[in-house]
Amino acid sequence: MLNSQIPVATLSDDSASTEAYLSFVTPGDLNRAWELGLFYLKTPGNLNLEFARRFGKELIACDSPYRRVPQYGELEGFIALENNQQTKLALRRERWGQHYPHHIAAFGRQLDTIGIAIIREVFRQSGIPEALWDRASGGYASGGGDAFLNFVHYDTRSPDWGLRPHTDYGFVTILDTSAPGLQIEMNGEFQDVPVLPGHLVINFGEALNFITAHSDRAVSAVTHRVLSQQSSDPVRHGIVYFANPGLDGMLWQFDAVGREQGSSSVEDLFAQLESRLTEDL
Ligand SMILES: [Fe+2]
Repeated sequence: MLNSQIPVATLSDDSASTEAYLSFVTPGDLNRAWELGLFYLKTPGNLNLEFARRFGKELIACDSPYRRVPQYGELEGFIALENNQQTKLALRRERWGQHYPHHIAAFGRQLDTIGIAIIREVFRQSGIPEALWDRASGGYASGGGDAFLNFVHYDTRSPDWGLRPHTDYGFVTILDTSAPGLQIEMNGEFQDVPVLPGHLVINFGEALNFITAHSDRAVSAVTHRVLSQQSSDPVRHGIVYFANPGLDGMLWQFDAVGREQGSSSVEDLFAQLESRLTEDL
């Protein structure tokens, strides 16, 4: 039922430029997406999603060479946690060329294009002058920043609590999943975000909320959770792309006339969010 309340956007190519534009059917849909912090995006026709899904399914096979991708810190590499249903291959943009096959690295760059189109639309709506977009976003708006492309599997045969309620840290998350279970908080209650065939789920994170907070139109970072996966289909697959600011950078808050209203190092902002999350427990 919530399905009909979640706005749907499309990406359209402007033939006069190489930039893709995000568009909603009505201005009301855009308002709702910005308030909710979440919307569906019609899967762009040129996106090689089927290839990527197949790659995702194959990489957990016992003899898959991708199981040997080393772990880099806590966030990257082939990661299987014992107390969790998740097995994943997670890599930031700098390592795509090294570990992903050519067509998957290219798929990641297609998701970069989508992420950039979304953040540019957020800036356009915010009134923040275009000359400041790059600085405000720690470089992401012009192709820099930090991006992750992760292939995630949930093995529903092992017990798990799912993902506790949280907001994402970064700017934009792009999700393709074969399984229901995602819920968002609306009016104090958790509601299902059903899988809508032919569509990706887009949600906004804390860094985007931070940089638009003093503009004409701030976006919400949506609180969401994932229910423990239970189904007759034992393995569920997901592809997740995170558009984030670089961890060693700065974020700037500007108003619609370009005056600086605040700033934070990315590290400080993330540490603050982390402590808030821990207090909530
Ligand atoms: Fe999340």
